[in-house]
Amino acid sequence: MSLYKTTLITGASQGIGLSLANEFAKNGHDLVLVARSEDKLLKIAQNLGAQYDIKVTPLPFDLIPTGSAIKLFTQLAEMEITIDILVNNAGMMQVEKLYESDMDVMNNLMQLNINSLVNMTRLFVGPMLSRGYGKVINVASIASFMPTPTFSVYGASKAFVLSFSESIAEEMKDSGISVTCVCPGFTQTDMLSHAEGLEKYIPTFLKASPEGLAADAYKAAMNNEVIFIDKLANKMLVQWAKHYPRWIVRGVTGFFSRFT
Ligand SMILES: NC(=O)c1ccc[n+]([C@@H]2O[C@H](COP(=O)([O-])OP(=O)(O)OC[C@H]3O[C@@H](n4cnc5c(N)ncnc54)[C@H](OP(=O)(O)O)[C@@H]3O)[C@@H](O)[C@H]2O)c1
Repeated sequence: MSLYKTTLITGASQGIGLSLANEFAKNGHDLVLVARSEDKLLKIAQNLGAQYDIKVTPLPFDLIPTGSAIKLFTQLAEMEITIDILVNNAGMMQVEKLYESDMDVMNNLMQLNINSLVNMTRLFVGPMLSRGYGKVINVASIASFMPTPTFSVYGASKAFVLSFSESIAEEMKDSGISVTCVCPGFTQTDMLSHAEGLEKYIPTFLKASPEGLAADAYKAAMNNEVIFIDKLANKMLVQWAKHYPRWIVRGVTGFFSRFT
């Protein structure tokens, strides 16, 4: 752990990001926690700091506006905080057919799930490369591996995250920086419960707890795994999507999308 002192986690105010914050805290890392909800971040920072005797810096930030990643990066440099592990977890979902989608929501989704993640990575790997060590953890989804009718923009954004993460993992292979793309399946968080059309059709055994996912994702990142898929059922689903002809996978996802 000694090399990897400080971890920045985006979307740390709830859900998977909060569970990751707990997991990193438990393992002795100092934290920088980013999300929009200042009150939640302050409370979490106080609790984790006291419970694990670590330094926790809450940084309320909206990652959607253009230029927010650079503002955040500059602010941390001014605070003289060095980031050893970057966790790009913040994300949003939109469950709607494309032609019924609110375009502002759709654009915000692409800004947060794609642009912000790329900019954050681009900025924070610079100092990591100079030091010769660091880790990037990007949260994608099992949706990265298959078409996702009725949440097409979300699925495509996660396919982007997987492709991007694998590419930069290769680019930085010999640099001392590892890149881990965490691909959760359905996970019991507000994101899932707000996707009402989707949530009611998902059997309980397929839903993971964010705490369990965070613990396994932490281990995968520490072991420098490039792709981490949680739960056997998700691994099987991904294998199915990879090995069956595309038209079958498309047809099956299209069939299930009729119920959402
Ligand atoms: N839950 C699942 O089933 C599932 C499955 C696969 C992948 N994932 C991925 O896992 C990640 C976390 O999802 P989750 O389920 O934990 O979602 P969640 O409970 O909705 O949490 C999302 C987090 O992102 C933050 N966030 C949202 N918009 C933001 C913005 N504009 N700027 C900064 N922070 C922002 C939220 O905090 P504020 O509202 O305070 O800003 C919150 O902390 C996402 O990338 C998601 O796509 C989730």
